[in-house]
Amino acid sequence: MKHVLVVGGTGMLADVVSWYANQSNYVSVIAREEEKVKRIKHSTKQQKHIYPIYVNYRQIQKLEEQLKTAILMLGPIQQVVAWVRSDAKESIIKVVTDQLSDWQLFHIINSSADSERIKDYLYVPANCQYRQIQLGFKVVSNYSRWLTNQEISQGVIEGIQQERNTMLHIVGQVEPSDK
Ligand SMILES: NC(=O)c1ccc[n+]([C@@H]2O[C@H](COP(=O)([O-])OP(=O)(O)OC[C@H]3O[C@@H](n4cnc5c(N)ncnc54)[C@H](OP(=O)(O)O)[C@@H]3O)[C@@H](O)[C@H]2O)c1
Repeated sequence: MKHVLVVGGTGMLADVVSWYANQSNYVSVIAREEEKVKRIKHSTKQQKHIYPIYVNYRQIQKLEEQLKTAILMLGPIQQVVAWVRSDAKESIIKVVTDQLSDWQLFHIINSSADSERIKDYLYVPANCQYRQIQLGFKVVSNYSRWLTNQEISQGVIEGIQQERNTMLHIVGQVEPSDK
């Protein structure tokens, strides 16, 4: 069984968590609100495969401690899917990398993010295969709209499945930017 970590797994990535769990992977989920995790568990066949890590990821020391506990319990983390609005990703990278095995990071970035700039600034260790998944929008007839949570999760799953082919996977579209 693979141990996967989904950061921010109770929001738009909820279906990604269920997808991993239903394939018999252990899924550690970082979030703060218990109720949201319970909702995901109820909609997932393999509930026992979901391991909540209740922590504010801005509290770096607690985050690192809880990640290490999850690793002790469920084994080294092989894949991380991260939607993080802070420097917490650096800590996550540090803890996961210290397990000394190869792993993959799927970094979720928003529509206006500069993919190249993020790559230049983020320290990615040699044992980490780094991939970006960028969230876009949809143009329907004459107007554009944001993606729904289901469309986001589905697109992220496709990005994970195609990981070997492309460094950047776009969900929906990000051009034309004025849309
Ligand atoms: N197209 C785009 O570019 C784009 C990009 C981003 C978002 N969106 C849209 O905007 C909506 C809202 O975005 P959102 O950022 O609120 O994403 P979200 O995925 O709906 O929720 C954020 C997730 O991160 C967790 N989280 C947030 N802060 C945390 C912290 N300090 N510590 C631990 N966990 C934390 C939340 O859990 P807890 O609440 O339990 O802490 C939750 O699981 C999305 O549903 C999506 O539709 C669109």
